[in-house]
Amino acid sequence: MHAHILPSGITLKHVEARQAKAIAVLGTMFAIFSRLVPSGSALLLIDVPVPFYADLRFAVFPYLVTLFLHHILALYSEIRMGSYAESQDRGILPKQFHIFGNGISFSISPIIHNAGFRHDGLPYTYDIQESRNIDEVAHLISRDEFGGASVTMPHKLQVHKYCDRESETAKSIGAINTLVVGYDGANRTITGENTDWSGLHAIINNYKTRSGKKMDAGLVIGAGGASRAALYAMYRAGIRTIYLVNRTFSRAESVRETFKDLFSVTILQNLRGLPQDIHVIIGTIPAHVTTEEQYHNLFGGCGLCIDMSYKPRQTPLLKAAKRNSEWETITGLQVLLAQAFDQYRLWTGKEPPRKVIVDAIIAHEGGQNIENIEVEGKL
Ligand SMILES: NC(=O)c1ccc[n+]([C@@H]2O[C@H](COP(=O)([O-])OP(=O)(O)OC[C@H]3O[C@@H](n4cnc5c(N)ncnc54)[C@H](OP(=O)(O)O)[C@@H]3O)[C@@H](O)[C@H]2O)c1
Repeated sequence: MHAHILPSGITLKHVEARQAKAIAVLGTMFAIFSRLVPSGSALLLIDVPVPFYADLRFAVFPYLVTLFLHHILALYSEIRMGSYAESQDRGILPKQFHIFGNGISFSISPIIHNAGFRHDGLPYTYDIQESRNIDEVAHLISRDEFGGASVTMPHKLQVHKYCDRESETAKSIGAINTLVVGYDGANRTITGENTDWSGLHAIINNYKTRSGKKMDAGLVIGAGGASRAALYAMYRAGIRTIYLVNRTFSRAESVRETFKDLFSVTILQNLRGLPQDIHVIIGTIPAHVTTEEQYHNLFGGCGLCIDMSYKPRQTPLLKAAKRNSEWETITGLQVLLAQAFDQYRLWTGKEPPRKVIVDAIIAHEGGQNIENIEVEGKL
């Protein structure tokens, strides 16, 4: 091409170079636009009059390069993070998960599940549905987009009326803490599950395997909803001598009655003078009504002490256990995580991304490392 001198002193090559740059910018814009409206970009390229381009190649080349880079980046982020778009491509529909309960405004369950959903690129959300009565939230269960729910007090014993079926374990324990949506042919079904016990069971089994210590006798302190899961977890972990102690004796008796066809429970009047060495102790009393001193005689020998109560993280029961270095302790937060991991598996069919979830909780707690949360190992 000849370089004609124009009156302004600008050569034709300069003009073409400027046009080329402008067209390159246009090409890039098309590529970006194509991210939003994939077929729209192609239409735009066709619709713009050809004479507008000094050379169409200037537009097509940056367009293709940008598009290529975009797809490489998108692929990388989908592999690493997963994405909403990807899940839609896979035909996964948006779903809503909830926690139903009373006095749950500070629940960390949304942190746990939303961190997992985000990481796995699932178009799911999990929120808190504060409700004094399970009937108040029943309309959410019947929605098409309902994906499942955690159920906490005081609804664990009432929610079965909104279930089409209950798992054998939920029936045995007499409480439901998880709603799972399934399909029986074309029919949508709601199953009542219990993961309170399975989280504890995983923790006990893990300790048993790691320590190789004998686990013959267990003690459950408290006889409310959580104690049923604790007793059942001990039974399923193969602990054959199980003691129960509770402030209200009659309540302990009714819990024992629940399990009488499966295993036997010995009710103690109090914590003084235990009949034998205990290897697993599970506390199920809200920590704020307890003191370290009331538990000081429990921790001879060695064993595993779990407190279901998680406020504060280190409860008087756990502090008493820690006085003997032969006892391992597990916080209520770890139990909460273990049961939430089971819920995550039931709802998504995926293994929960433990590290991502634990990191999200640590961030939620102001970046402080939470003592005793182990991602692999104990949980
Ligand atoms: N980490 C988890 O995943 C998880 C899961 C479930 C529950 N929890 C926690 O576990 C704890 C118990 O929950 P829950 O559902 O079992 O509650 P619940 O059904 O209300 O039972 C409470 C238990 O605590 C006893 N209790 C209450 N106040 C007492 C006091 N001043 N002195 C002695 N005993 C007292 C009750 O004894 P009486 O029978 O004599 O009233 C009963 O045995 C709560 O802190 C809860 O947050 C944690």
